[in-house]
Order: sequence, then structure tokens, then C-alpha cells
Amino acid sequence: MRDFDELIKRMTLKEKLAEITQLYGDEYTEDDSTFMGIDYRFEANREMVDNVGSILGVSGAALIKEAQKKHLETSKHKIPLLFMHDIIHGFKTIFPSPLAMSCTWQPELVKESAEIAAKESAVSGIHLTFSPMCDLARDARWGRVVETSGEDPFLNSMFAKAYVEGYQGTDVSEQYRVASCLKHFAAYGMAEAGRDYNTTDVSEYELREKHFPGYRAAVDAGAKMVMTSFNALNGVPSSGNKWLFQDVLRKEWGFRGTVISDCTAIVEMIYHGFAQDEAEAAKKAIDAGVDIEMVSNTYYNSAERLIKQGRLSEDQIDLSVKRVLELKEELGLFDNPFKDADEEAEKKYILCREHRDAARKIARESMVLLKNDGVLPVKKNTEKKQKIFLTGPYADSRQMLDSWSAYGEEKDCLTLREVLSDEMEISCIPGIGILDYEKEQVENAVKAAEDSDIILLALGEEPLMSGESNSRMDIGLPGYQQQFAERIFAVGKPVIVILYNGRPLAIPEIALKANAVLEAWFPGTEGNHAVCDILTGAYAPSGRLTMSFPWAVGQCPIYYNCYSTGRPSKNVYISERFSSRYIDGQSVPLYPFGYGLTYTTFEYGEVILSDTVMRRNGSIMAQCSLKNTGDRAGTETVQLYLKDISGSRVRPVRMLKDFRRITLKPGETCQAVFRIDEEMLKFHTLDKGFAAETGKFKIYIAENASTGTCAEFELV
Ligand code: BGC
Repeated sequence: MRDFDELIKRMTLKEKLAEITQLYGDEYTEDDSTFMGIDYRFEANREMVDNVGSILGVSGAALIKEAQKKHLETSKHKIPLLFMHDIIHGFKTIFPSPLAMSCTWQPELVKESAEIAAKESAVSGIHLTFSPMCDLARDARWGRVVETSGEDPFLNSMFAKAYVEGYQGTDVSEQYRVASCLKHFAAYGMAEAGRDYNTTDVSEYELREKHFPGYRAAVDAGAKMVMTSFNALNGVPSSGNKWLFQDVLRKEWGFRGTVISDCTAIVEMIYHGFAQDEAEAAKKAIDAGVDIEMVSNTYYNSAERLIKQGRLSEDQIDLSVKRVLELKEELGLFDNPFKDADEEAEKKYILCREHRDAARKIARESMVLLKNDGVLPVKKNTEKKQKIFLTGPYADSRQMLDSWSAYGEEKDCLTLREVLSDEMEISCIPGIGILDYEKEQVENAVKAAEDSDIILLALGEEPLMSGESNSRMDIGLPGYQQQFAERIFAVGKPVIVILYNGRPLAIPEIALKANAVLEAWFPGTEGNHAVCDILTGAYAPSGRLTMSFPWAVGQCPIYYNCYSTGRPSKNVYISERFSSRYIDGQSVPLYPFGYGLTYTTFEYGEVILSDTVMRRNGSIMAQCSLKNTGDRAGTETVQLYLKDISGSRVRPVRMLKDFRRITLKPGETCQAVFRIDEEMLKFHTLDKGFAAETGKFKIYIAENASTGTCAEFELV
């Protein structure tokens, strides 16, 4: 590592402040002397632009090479620019949304997608991606659940690690690697009432048990950067939260990389009521250890004054500058400021066959079969040819990409009609839009449905109904789709519903009336090929939900690993009437965490433990037989849950601790075997330790969080 102290000494304070400021690339206008031009929204000046440290949101090898070249010509200290971007689930070859990818329960696939995303973005000049998002998601009203890996800390941690490893490999300076920035530290997903940017109040116990593990896993995997979150956490906005960044992230977890604010989050501390002006916001963020200010420029405008007033020390600024320079050095930019930016490689790799095939494979694995009475897979070759009718707003739509799909384009996606037409004879009338409704079109669709043997009904949300700032207070099917679906069900033919959406939906009527329901999510560039593979039976679905589906929005937030109340349903002391429940609906989910069907069935045996006593530092084995009782091969995700029966704090009703994906031929049986050790029993105890407490535990081996057989053991 170069020693940057000398360089920092030579830099003026203004140059240093520009180095720790990030400006938006695509908001710029060109002018004669500066390739990027000046961002007028935040009144950046020439000096600032010439010395700025990093740029957000531009890509393209030619553009970035030219920008870098011009920057190095004007930059006094020849410090290369760092280009950062949100490459969340693919650059131009778009993979399913992160929530969908988590339903694969296969971190190796997420890693593969991240490697491809890194390659496509690296060749187009990007050095760092603002991914993974490690926020835990529990409230389906919050639009950003689509960017998460769901509600479970164990899976969230696994996927966080996989993303970081996929982007960075073992050395970010290597070819086709980009640095990874985990976000949004911390607990952004707990926005009250699911309304984006809203405040959060989370106990330290909950933070440490459920929320921190995902971020921590990304830090431990070597992520180079951490982003603050927009929310105030327990009364302190994250971008000014010393405890989070100095105590937890740096001291406890040993993070040595760079911290960046979320976009304009520093100046937003004024609206939070946490800073009275820009100068105070800058001071609080710098004191908290936020190195780079994204897009707003309170650092640039106020730090000089704060130093003169003795409210900040220049050493604090120097430390942040050093971290930024070290990151540039780690990426190899001082030796090769263009890194992998290469127009020829762009042509060769972006959207190449290999990447598209990976996108199709991962999309297939991410889809979750929610219901099937046997109507799926669609039988193409029956003697009497069946008439297949495709309808609904997604019947002939290219909207396969969610709201955060980098450079993915709908023109590169095929519609379900186009893909299915290559496989089978179908007729298609969408009949309705997601939000618009024309009576005549509906009647045409209903008539065509009456004349068919089987109906494929493709429904969902607009891509911009989830993602950042897209919270919803009604999470049913938007527009007139439910009414349309009722008309189609009333025809009395078998109906297969395919859902394209970014969040768990409250769809009890669909669940009740459809013959089959396939959750396709926003499946990415090759999404409809994946849907077709599943509908035709070329591939048997194996996705499992990582977020619970509620019956009604009023149940939100609903998640499996909650704490029991003192009055759970069916308790022996109090009558059901006074149990913790709703009087007008279910308190359990419509589809629980871990749920998903395939084209065969499985039978679970009893849980057998090697011992009913576990000694300190010891372990026991748990096993259960699994039989494929159907007539085709299939993959089951056997899930191991633990319940700590009593502790110094209340413990979740269940916690996922491990799982096995097992593929069995028809009639085949095997044993699912798990090792349970003391590490799995540890938690943040009342005396602030992290330890396993002696006492009784339950082990469930289950097909989802609501089922399974169980056995008990004791830690002594
Ligand atoms: C989002 C971040 C994102 C950043 C930069 C913000 O609005 O919250 O997730 O990385 O913008 O695009």
C-alpha cells in the first residue's frame, strides 16, 4: 500500500474536501473545460468538480475513459476518479430481484450473478457497486423489500457474503472485479408502517440478534465500503450516528474500509431535526465517521469554517481522505486509472449468451410455486389438443425488470406470449392493464376464456410499485386485476395464475380460487423463458419463500421468527378468545417463510436425535428421513429450526439454523442429517454477553416455518 501521508500534506483543505465528496454524473451538463460539467442543483463550483473524488451513476467504457483522462489532466495531484453505481442484480443482463434470488436458497447462484454483474459493470468502467443491501425486510408495505434477501438473519447473512464474494473475488484489483458497498447501516428496513425513509425504533437486542448479522457478514466477507441509511435509529439519524459507525462498525467489527453517506442523507439531518444547519449536519456526520458525502455538499461548504471555529479537526478530514485514497489504491487505480473499462470487452460480454443463460437458470430457481392442484405442468401433448388462453396485464408485457435494474432494458426481454408461442399453441388477449380497464377488452378476454380449456392468468404490480420510495398501504393486486380475475375464475375453467411483483402480496382470493399460482417476481432479462420452463414442466420449481405472505395488509409486519406473546393461540391457561389474535381474520400467514411446492411430494419422518443431552462445547446430530412420494424427481429444501424454550430474554418461536437442498427420484428415500452445536444456541443474553444458556431446546426439521416434526434436547 502506498503511503498517502505526503500526498495529503500537499493537498489544500478544499482539495481534500472535494476528494471526500461524491457528485452525480448523469445530472451534469457539459461545458468546455470540464468533461463532466457542473452540477447546478447543489451549486458545485469548478474547483470542486476538478478535484472531486468520486462520481455516481455513469457508465460506459468510452465515456468513463474520457472522463478519467480529462480529470487526470486537470487534477493537480493526479488522483484518479472513482466511479460508483447501483449494480444491484445485474448490469445489463438482469437477474431476478434480490428478494427473488433469495428464494433460491442457493448463495452460490447469487455469487454467480454478482460475478457476472461485476464483469459487465467493470468493462463499462465502474469500480464499485452499492450492493449488497443487507437490510432485513419484514413489512411488505415497504417497497424496498424487493431489494432485500427477506426476513431471516441466517439467510440474509449467507446472501450478503455471497454478493460480496461475487463482486470482489479475493482481490478487487483483479480483472473484472468491482468493490462492494454494503448498505444501509442500519435497520433501514424497519421503517415504521412500511413507509420508506420513516423513522425506526429497534432495541439493541433486536438489532444484534436479527439486523446486524447481515451487515456483519458482508463486513467479514471483506466489503470495502459501508453506506449509511436514511432513517433515524432510536432517535439518531444513521449518518450522524457515532455509536453505529465508530463503536459497532469500526471498534467491534474491525471494519477498516470507507463509509459513505446515502444520497443527500447528511443534509437531510436538518429535516430530521438533528442538525440546525448544514454546518452542524457536516460536523455530526464527520464526527460519526462518515468519510464520503454523497451528492449534497455540506462537507465542502462548511468544514473549513468548522475547523476555524475549532469544532472539527483537520485530522478528521485527513483520515477520511486517506481511506478514499487507499480504496483507489486497492482497486489499482493509481497504476491503471481505467481499470477494466474496455469497449471491445463491452461488446463481447454484455448480454452475451453465457450471461443470459445464467440469468435464465437463476430466474427458474427463484420462482416459487404457491399452489398446484395438479393442473401444472401444462400438458402439451394430450390426444385432444387443449386450447390454452393467456390473459392478464402481464400476458404480453416486457416489464420483467424491477425499479432498480441498472442498465437493463425491457427491449431485451421477451413477453410471456412470445416465449410460450414458441412452445405451444396459445391464444392471447391481455384484457386489462395493471391500472387501466376497458370494458370491451375485458368482455373479449372473458369470451375467449369461455372458449378455452385452460387459462394462464398473468397478474402483478408495475415495476415502480416497489423499490425505493414505493411503499404501498394496500398490498393486494393493484387496479382492477382482482375483479378481472374474479370474472376469469367464474368461467369455470382451470386457471393458472402467474404473479410478477416485487413484494409479498395479500391475495387470499387468488390463493383460494386459482388452480395453480406461480410467484415469478420480477424475474429479469430471461424471466419469461424461466416461467415457460416451469409451466411446461421442463423444469420443476424449487424456490422457497424468504418472506411471509400475509392474508391481509393489517397483519404487516408478519415474519416467522417473532417472539411468542404470553397469550399465544391454543395456550393452556387462557381461552382462545383472549389469545393474541385478530377478530376479523387470520393471525398466521397465508404462505409462511420457507414455503414452496414442486411437481412431486415429500414425506418427512420423525426427528431423531443422537442424544437428548448436549454438553458445553459439544454437539449432537439430528436427522429425519425424507421420501419422494410422487411420480417425478424433485428437490426439497429441508429446513432445520431451533427453539430455545426459555432464556434470560424471550426467544423467537423458531430460528432457521441450517438447511439442505435434496434431490430425490420418485420413491427414493434419504436421511437429512444436521449437526447442532453450541454456537447455534448462542444469543445476546440479558447480561450483554453472547452465550448459550443451559436449558431445553426444540429442534424442528421442516418443509417450512409453520410445519415439521420436532424433538427436544437439553444443554447442560
Ligand atoms: C438509495 C441507495 C443508493 C443511492 C445511490 C439512494 O437513494 O437509498 O440505496 O445506493 O441512492 O444511488
